[in-house]
Amino acid sequence: MKILVTGGTGYIGSHTVVELQNSGYEVVIIDNLSNSIIEVNDNIEKITGVRPEFQNIDLCDSTALAEFFKKQNDISAVIHFAAFKAVGESVNFPLRYYHNNVTGMINLLNELVKKGIRDFVYSSSCTVYGEADKLPVTEESPVKKAESPYGFTKQIGEQMLWDLSAVSDLRSVILRYFNPTGAHDSSLIGELPVGIPNNLVPYITQTAIGKREMLTVNGNDYDTPDGTNIRDYIHVVDLAKAHVLALKRMLDRSSEENVEIFNLGTGRGNSVLEVITSFEKVTGLKLNYRIGTRRSGDVVSIYSDTKKANEILGWYAERDLNDMMLTSWNWQKHIGKD
Ligand code: UFG
Repeated sequence: MKILVTGGTGYIGSHTVVELQNSGYEVVIIDNLSNSIIEVNDNIEKITGVRPEFQNIDLCDSTALAEFFKKQNDISAVIHFAAFKAVGESVNFPLRYYHNNVTGMINLLNELVKKGIRDFVYSSSCTVYGEADKLPVTEESPVKKAESPYGFTKQIGEQMLWDLSAVSDLRSVILRYFNPTGAHDSSLIGELPVGIPNNLVPYITQTAIGKREMLTVNGNDYDTPDGTNIRDYIHVVDLAKAHVLALKRMLDRSSEENVEIFNLGTGRGNSVLEVITSFEKVTGLKLNYRIGTRRSGDVVSIYSDTKKANEILGWYAERDLNDMMLTSWNWQKHIGKD
């Protein structure tokens, strides 16, 4: 079966392509390389022995997208990753985010409807829960007003799937990721942040390798045991495997629902200081860090209830925080300082 993966050379996309190919699926990637590099395809081939078909297409280019779909007659399902994802950047450039994430997805869905492709896996985020009233968050927890244009584009994407599935044959699985980190054991693929990283783990590994001078912990005066924010860090390979299971469930027609939502996290919350401690433990390095002030927009704590994904998808996160830190560090050493 052939699966279209948009954003397939990106961080989560590339790991998912590896798991799909390892599970026997044929993959065609669409990516505009705006936040990834073409060499990722070489490394996917090194890991799996199979080179995915690749098309450099921007989903906002509706003409190029239509041309692509005209030539494709055997796509069984789509996994949609292609999107901008930097929270702070989205606040500064909201229209860029609405254009890329929303227009791109509309163009894609239009083509799927035309082609009669019915199965869609959507990359969403725990950001839709905002500051949750009750922890852990279940899929029934209320969706809160978005804190950023990025977060709002994820909510719009989810809503488009509900609305479209009400009037078409589309079936979708919405996957709400918690905090993806780690890298493939081969160290051939991983996260490639452009510029100064926003996210904690790439900032830690870049500091440890000497690319950044010092990590700043964004506040230690929160109402948590050690005063720093709590997140549910999830290994990217575990996350990638969940996509394969979600896809299988749809293709096997195992669900009665047209739209299903799953949280993808470990169910465990770790503070920023616990992440640093884990990194220091597995690498034997001392990390240069200081305590700074709070970052605006950060929720205090969030972690997932994983029961639904465990029971319905049969998916369990297998890799712990130490494993995430070790593979992130191995990846950083592989790509080096520059
Ligand atoms: N942090 C630091 N120092 C840094 C970077 C991060 O202390 O240099 C802290 C943050 O303040 C936060 C924690 O580390 O407490 C995790 O921050 P990340 O930026 O790695 O992750 P977020 O939880 O902010 O972001 C994630 C996803 C987004 C998603 C968002 C929802 O990366 O895609 O959750 O809040 F939108």
